[in-house]
Amino acid sequence: METTIHNTILITGGAGFIGSNLSEYFLKLGHKVICLDNFSTGHRHNLQDFIENPNYKLIEGDIRNLEDCKTAVQGVDYVLHQAALGSVPRSINDPITTNDVNVSGFLNILVASRDAKVKRFIYAASSSTYGDSEGLPKVEEVIGKPLSPYAITKYVNELYAEIFSRTYGLETIGLRYFNVFGRKQDPDGAYAAVIPKFVRQLMNHESPIINGDGNYSRDFTYIDNVIQMNDLAIRTQNQTAINTVYNTAFGDRNTLNDLVKYLKQYLSEFDPKIADVEVTYGENRAGDIPHSLASIEKAKTLLEYNPKYSLQEGLKQAVSWYWNNLK
Ligand SMILES: NC(=O)c1ccc[n+]([C@@H]2O[C@H](COP(=O)([O-])OP(=O)(O)OC[C@H]3O[C@@H](n4cnc5c(N)ncnc54)[C@H](O)[C@@H]3O)[C@@H](O)[C@H]2O)c1
Repeated sequence: METTIHNTILITGGAGFIGSNLSEYFLKLGHKVICLDNFSTGHRHNLQDFIENPNYKLIEGDIRNLEDCKTAVQGVDYVLHQAALGSVPRSINDPITTNDVNVSGFLNILVASRDAKVKRFIYAASSSTYGDSEGLPKVEEVIGKPLSPYAITKYVNELYAEIFSRTYGLETIGLRYFNVFGRKQDPDGAYAAVIPKFVRQLMNHESPIINGDGNYSRDFTYIDNVIQMNDLAIRTQNQTAINTVYNTAFGDRNTLNDLVKYLKQYLSEFDPKIADVEVTYGENRAGDIPHSLASIEKAKTLLEYNPKYSLQEGLKQAVSWYWNNLK
């Protein structure tokens, strides 16, 4: 009989969209989960299903504070570093805070992880690192120039991780997330991601505004595919699979017009009036790349990644969750 090893996993940004989903998943597997979060964009309601779990520990703190990082990594086997300020427009409006959190905060948690001798440091990288490179699909080894302060910070994370692997022998894996969506993603605020924002607007019978003509495309990635990649990154014993970065995506692309079509179709099953809500078209946004599509061959080959949810399958799940949970 296979014995299950129970690890202690630190999830920074564990009150956010991706971090809270990762927390729930690893708690269900019987692991101990520590969350370090300052609730700047995360929410307490994301923790309500497991906050009382005896295997769960919440540390309210800031990755910009090295002491908070040192406290959080004590006794930790694996770090899943998710804490960051997301959003390209936010980084354009306030590059200093984005850099403080995403670069200085990253370095703090990396140093603390090295000193605590964690087994592996797995971190949220970003498809924005492909910048102005035009080739599709994106392969990990070919990147372009960053198009926003946010993209710079995420690329710097990769550079630091690589140096820490080579210089200090810290095992690292970077997961370049591509437009992640799903349950618990925040629909509110100026920097909300497109899917939850559109869901909220359609539910209110308000017109979603598409930046540009709607023909920009993205490799929209359902949260459960992202969870699978984090799980595989923890589990892999393949030495050639570590100290590198992986596209974390489904491996298909859909336009914004397709996205709205599917959202209207699935939401109108709950409220038929949503089928009649019209879309409004606006200006293209600064820092946006026209098309994004990941090659997932590297993850398939080295990690045996096998994503289960396409955009449409993921959207059906997400829409039903939002319908039942958005007030
Ligand atoms: N959602 C996506 O499509 C996507 C795509 C690419 C990369 N990423 C990356 O994935 C990670 C998670 O993103 P998300 O979508 O869950 O965002 P999120 O905003 O929901 O979660 C981020 C969490 O980090 C916390 N945080 C922010 N600053 C902090 C600080 N200084 N100290 C401690 N905690 C802090 C926030 O409170 C929040 O709970 C981020 O690193 C993001 O850059 C996300």
